[in-house]
Amino acid sequence: MTILVTTPNGTVGRYVTEALRDRSDVRFLVRSRAGAEALGRVRGEVVRGSATDAADARRAVAGVDRLYLAHPFAEDQVAAETALGAAAAEAGVHRIVKLGARRFAGPGCVPDAVTGVHDTIAERLRSAGVRELTVLQPDRFLQNFLPAAASIAGGTLPDPAGPGARGYVDARDIAEVAVAELLAARPVGGEIEVSGPEALTLPELCDRFGAVLNRPVRYADVPLDGAWRAALADRGVTPQVIDGLQGLYANYRREGVARLGDGVQRVLGRAPRSAGDFAADLLVPALHGA
Ligand SMILES: NC(=O)c1ccc[n+]([C@@H]2O[C@H](COP(=O)([O-])OP(=O)(O)OC[C@H]3O[C@@H](n4cnc5c(N)ncnc54)[C@H](OP(=O)(O)O)[C@@H]3O)[C@@H](O)[C@H]2O)c1
Repeated sequence: MTILVTTPNGTVGRYVTEALRDRSDVRFLVRSRAGAEALGRVRGEVVRGSATDAADARRAVAGVDRLYLAHPFAEDQVAAETALGAAAAEAGVHRIVKLGARRFAGPGCVPDAVTGVHDTIAERLRSAGVRELTVLQPDRFLQNFLPAAASIAGGTLPDPAGPGARGYVDARDIAEVAVAELLAARPVGGEIEVSGPEALTLPELCDRFGAVLNRPVRYADVPLDGAWRAALADRGVTPQVIDGLQGLYANYRREGVARLGDGVQRVLGRAPRSAGDFAADLLVPALHGA
């Protein structure tokens, strides 16, 4: 058996890499020398290439049986996942564990590009003839808050997701579910919703972080206005991606209390990590530069 891991340095992918680092039957796809260095020591093979390049994709999937497929939300996401997935199917890969996203369920929610692309990609993978396709559908990652660690430690968590409550999920749990599905000896497939253990509003999430940091943390609502768009544009985010994120956050604001997915319990037989676990394990070390 050979497993190909895409985005091995990604938010979820880095934990998939952690779990598979000591196996000789794993191949990691990175784009650059820096990406290869960031991986650190792995027992398996590191291949250089872009998921959007047809020749790179064919080279990456040659001889592979199982694939962890992920890609950031970007203009090239459908092309990248479809190209790699179709090349994989053609090369005889029979199992794909794809990182998707939880669908919105609230009555006021409307289709948005960020979550919508996953249905398009999954449909194309099925049409390409992939026999076993597991689509992981996580809620919002707790790791999204790591870049704001200093602000949180200073007492403020700014975020545009508004008043709803969500099952914020630790990317380590998503990766563990992905690895379990990749390695399972039984046939796999279908959709797996992955959430944290409880639906939290952002003020409640602040309380969980504050309890670990031992100081009050306050939620600051960030409106989805022109200033928000301009700040993203200043960071080099393209108008199309900003539009997609605006649609995503508008749905977060509309959804109310998100339904919890049971993927961690069902696949791993244990409760999901909590926001407090995340704060203690990753947010506090991030403050100290770890
Ligand atoms: N964030 C959330 O709250 C959330 C919630 C639910 C679902 N999701 C889903 O999660 C997915 C993103 O997963 P993630 O956050 O784990 O990934 P990620 O961290 O955004 O992935 C980043 C990695 O993608 C690699 N990459 C980008 N373009 C590439 C290409 N053309 N070829 C090869 N590698 C490429 C980059 O490699 P380099 O280092 O070489 O640039 C980088 O290491 C999205 O589909 C999103 O819808 C996210």
